[in-house]
Amino acid sequence: MEGKITCLQGDGIGPEVMASAKQVLCVIGEKYGHTFHLHDADFGGIAIDTHGEPLPEATLQACLSSDAILLGAVGGPKWDTLAVRPEAGLLGLRKALGLFANIRPVYVHPAVAHLSPLKEEIVQDVDFVVVRELTGGIYFSEPKERTSEHATDTLTYTREEITRIVQHAFELARTRRKKVTSIDKANVMESSKLWREVANEVGANYPDIVLEHLLVDAAAMELIRRPSRFDVVVTENLFGDILSDEASMIAGSLGLLPSASHSLEGPSLYEPIHGSAPDIAGENKANPLAMLYSVSMMLRHSFLLEEEANDVERAISAVLAAGYRTGDLRGEATTTLFTEKVVQELAGVKEGV
Ligand code: NAD
Ligand code: IPM
Ligand code: MN
Repeated sequence: MEGKITCLQGDGIGPEVMASAKQVLCVIGEKYGHTFHLHDADFGGIAIDTHGEPLPEATLQACLSSDAILLGAVGGPKWDTLAVRPEAGLLGLRKALGLFANIRPVYVHPAVAHLSPLKEEIVQDVDFVVVRELTGGIYFSEPKERTSEHATDTLTYTREEITRIVQHAFELARTRRKKVTSIDKANVMESSKLWREVANEVGANYPDIVLEHLLVDAAAMELIRRPSRFDVVVTENLFGDILSDEASMIAGSLGLLPSASHSLEGPSLYEPIHGSAPDIAGENKANPLAMLYSVSMMLRHSFLLEEEANDVERAISAVLAAGYRTGDLRGEATTTLFTEKVVQELAGVKEGV
């Protein structure tokens, strides 16, 4: 198999976790006889520094012409006061590629369940997926205005935007435990009233799937009280952003959760849910797992390499079970040591075959 992957390492710990991803892709390629053509492109803060904009046209074209895109993270204090920040490049890329469906699996690894700030018995059976709408809502709706005395953001959703993301969630639920939890604020917001109405209409076409609705404030509480009740969670852009960072602590660390973003056609993008972590950038402390799980999602979804994706996950499990952990999980392994162990584990599996 041959595939072209555009690598947007970005800023902060982005380059560190991207280096880890590339090493793992390299060993998977060698082991299974695939050629991954990896192309780097400037994106985010580094692209502002070198090209004067966070999403240069050449980067967008590289993404459009690839089979999949891997992204580290963007942003950092250096660019926080600019009118056009690195984050604007990320939103622009999601919009330009039509990546409306952001899939964020939340899985508690048995080897690290005791490291969650929640009690082990609360987190041990957790296995759910947040389906976050990614190209609409308050992130993108107009008007967006700002004067020194007044600031406006607008939250608009169309029936079409809600329908396609909710359908995506129902289709996913069919492959899982057949339950969809739709999260909104329908007791206050008009966009949420439409969201709930459409979710019910879509749900009527899926009689095999249980649909429940939760208000977002109660959902935030339920995520801590009994997270194992969730299977597929579907929600709008901003709620999904906030709830998925909350959910990362069920798993034990923000450094664990991967994501995949899909459009109706064209390449998908894979990225950790975390940011550029300026507080630990350059220190070889970043947990590479969110990135490596993003790689396994890419192998499975964009390249249909199920065995290879399973192999990456199995290697990660073995390294965790052997006791290697980065600092966010109260361990002492560096990013490079953890990666090296995963690479050795992958190579070792090969020797045993
Ligand atoms: P963050 O996710 O970067 O970091 C939050 C905390 O989690 C920090 O203490 C950090 O050290 C820790 N952390 C995050 N990832 C980790 C990892 N892999 N291993 C170990 N610890 C990890 O959030 P923030 O500090 O609020 O944001 C920093 C910058 O990142 C901002 O500019 C923000 O806009 C940007 N950001 C980018 C993305 C993205 O590129 N997709 C996502 C979120 C935030
Ligand atoms: C994420 C990030 C982004 C978002 C920011 C950096 C624009 O927090 O990918 O979760 O809010 O979507
Ligand atoms: Mn976020």
